[in-house]
Amino acid sequence: MSGKIVPRLGLVVAMLAAGCGRKEGAGTTGRGGSGESRPRWVIGMSQCNLGEPWRVQMNEDIRKAAEARPEVEVIFKDAQNDALKQRAQIEEFTSAEIDLLIVSPKEAAPLTPPVSAAYRKGIPVIVLDRRCLGDDYTCFIGADNKKIGRAVGLWVVERLGGAGKVVELKGLMTSTPGQDRHSGFREGIRESEIEVIFEADMKWLEPEARREMESALARFDEIDLAYGHNDPGAHGAYLAAKAAGREKDIIFIGIDALPHEGQVYVRQGVLGASFEYPTGGREAIDTALDILGGEKVPKEIVLPSRVFTKENVDGGGELLRIGL
Ligand code: FRU
Repeated sequence: MSGKIVPRLGLVVAMLAAGCGRKEGAGTTGRGGSGESRPRWVIGMSQCNLGEPWRVQMNEDIRKAAEARPEVEVIFKDAQNDALKQRAQIEEFTSAEIDLLIVSPKEAAPLTPPVSAAYRKGIPVIVLDRRCLGDDYTCFIGADNKKIGRAVGLWVVERLGGAGKVVELKGLMTSTPGQDRHSGFREGIRESEIEVIFEADMKWLEPEARREMESALARFDEIDLAYGHNDPGAHGAYLAAKAAGREKDIIFIGIDALPHEGQVYVRQGVLGASFEYPTGGREAIDTALDILGGEKVPKEIVLPSRVFTKENVDGGGELLRIGL
């Protein structure tokens, strides 16, 4: 990355002014200075969608962390799950010369060029949760999806006693968490007699997962477990099985473990387990402030993950072992 970081608040806010979710009362001219409580840095946050609870939580975590730091202002954009729209929004941030970009990209390939262009223009870039291709970014923050997938696989092997028939409902396979949660899982079950009898891309969406599970149920009389790459996917599978009167014969596993979503499903006995996927929102703001303050940050920040089951959910889950 070239160029030094210079606050450009006035210009940026003027360019991005209308309807971008600015913090109330943010000044438009605050340029550093001692005892300054007005923002001096503008962070653009490009979110791939807000249709899923986990992403709403991510924005909330960012907003909360930023509120505690009066020197920054975050401008949020929601791409509504449209890669082209997200590309245009990132380009808009780049031409407005924001001080730092946080991006949670819908898919790796189509979002790499605009992210790369922002970085090459000298804007520090934090990539959050889903990856882009190559290494034109300042810092990637996220949990290790491959490790989580492998932990799911090992959990399934143990729970099914080494053998059984499994449905895998995959997240969007053009996004890196989908790819890693799949390959990690397959590694985890490799040495067992677990058989994946049906797999489909449900694109992270509950209604798609429900539809795919209906097909699986229609084709197979015996299904022991359904693994959804996220909790909405696992819940969609559960709803399909319930409608067919088969939910008691099947164990459902998901990923995300939001306190008000996956953890509730686990407590209710709807999911057998949910593996936490932290949003990284707070860490993104902390890291952004480090970068803007001129500190060197690691290229990768790997967040820890916990597993929640009925036995441990009230005690806060259990940390996944590192280096599984
Ligand atoms: C939300 C989501 C989460 C998942 C993450 C992966 O869009 O599907 O449920 O864990 O994205 O990037």
